[in-house]
Amino acid sequence: MSKLRRAVVTGAAGFIGGHLVKRLVDAGVLVIGVDRRDPKHDTLAAANLTEALQSPNFVFVPADLVDCSVESLLLDADVVFHLAGIPGVRPSWGERFSEYAECNIVVTQRIMEAAVRLGVPRVVVASSSSVYGRTGGAPSAETAATAPMSPYGVSKLAAESLCLAHADRADSRTSVAALRYFTVYGPRQRADMLIGRVLEAALGGPPVRVYGAGGQRRDFTFITDAVEATIAAATATDDTGVFNIGAGQASSVTDVVRIAEELTGTRIPTSPVAARDGDVPATLADHSRAREVLGWGPQVDLAGGMRRHWQWLTADKSPVSEASAS
Ligand code: NAD
Ligand code: UGA
Repeated sequence: MSKLRRAVVTGAAGFIGGHLVKRLVDAGVLVIGVDRRDPKHDTLAAANLTEALQSPNFVFVPADLVDCSVESLLLDADVVFHLAGIPGVRPSWGERFSEYAECNIVVTQRIMEAAVRLGVPRVVVASSSSVYGRTGGAPSAETAATAPMSPYGVSKLAAESLCLAHADRADSRTSVAALRYFTVYGPRQRADMLIGRVLEAALGGPPVRVYGAGGQRRDFTFITDAVEATIAAATATDDTGVFNIGAGQASSVTDVVRIAEELTGTRIPTSPVAARDGDVPATLADHSRAREVLGWGPQVDLAGGMRRHWQWLTADKSPVSEASAS
């Protein structure tokens, strides 16, 4: 972290972005956060950036990266953490795809053009486990074939490939780490995602609509682990590469409901609905490359992470400290 003086975080007002910004400013890094959701007008953005906005190390720039001037944002940055994008797998079919294409692909192209032109030393880009597609449940290494099953997955593979192509240009002084995050959860998780919905249901929220039979498995990754991997990708090496960032354990939707019932002492109401196009049957990270090259490994297992997520939902909504890790 001591190598970082000035960082740009795109998608700063999002779930992962908000946690990353907080961790960086706490470590004394000057952070320029960019997002088209402005915490002055958007309550979700405000919640994700509450603490960061109180720090003198944080500057927030409300801007749509589809058409704003990018170079001025990236001037003098040691690293760009490019997290901005449209993240949901299931809504990426149909008319909304043009928004995915613009925000996930065109925006990435604009960021990389500017980063290479300015000679920004490092770009860390948020890719996704969804680039692998149907795997059969065995751990995916970064060398495995990619065959995304959703338009979203296609857009993330395109974004990742664009970054690698720019890093490979003859005149490029910019190296890239593309992080394939696996289903990240924890406090302030996006409202469309499973674990938050299950825990909210224990508090009297709507019953959980289980897509398909509930046997689909995910490598659920706790937010602090995702953030530490992201920082390691900026600091541990300047080699260009792709890294799986996942806990390395797969659990089904049914497992998540059972763990939540044990944790909360509540029966979680569920209702089965049709499986969703694009939802892969299983994800599981082989994260040995991140261990070897980044010196990173997951610290929080699913039961421990869900406990911390639950404590945050039910208690004081205070920051997620490492001290309460289990
Ligand atoms: P999020 O929706 O909470 O955050 C994304 C942010 O990007 C939002 O605040 C949004 O306003 C911003 N954004 C989108 N388009 C923009 C544009 N044109 N200009 C400026 N800002 C824009 O999502 P998240 O869960 O925090 O995911 C962050 C990134 O990580 C995304 O790129 C997503 O694809 C990727 N990812 C997330 C997960 C996960 O489990 N959450 C897993 C794999 C990959
Ligand atoms: C998550 C993120 O939302 C994506 O941004 C990210 O790219 C992807 O992880 C990834 O790993 O790359 P997803 O795995 O679908 O996508 O995460 P959840 O929304 O938490 O869903 C997990 C599982 O629960 C899925 O199989 C989904 O079908 C199921 N689910 C989700 C339900 O059955 N009901 C719900 O209400 C929500």
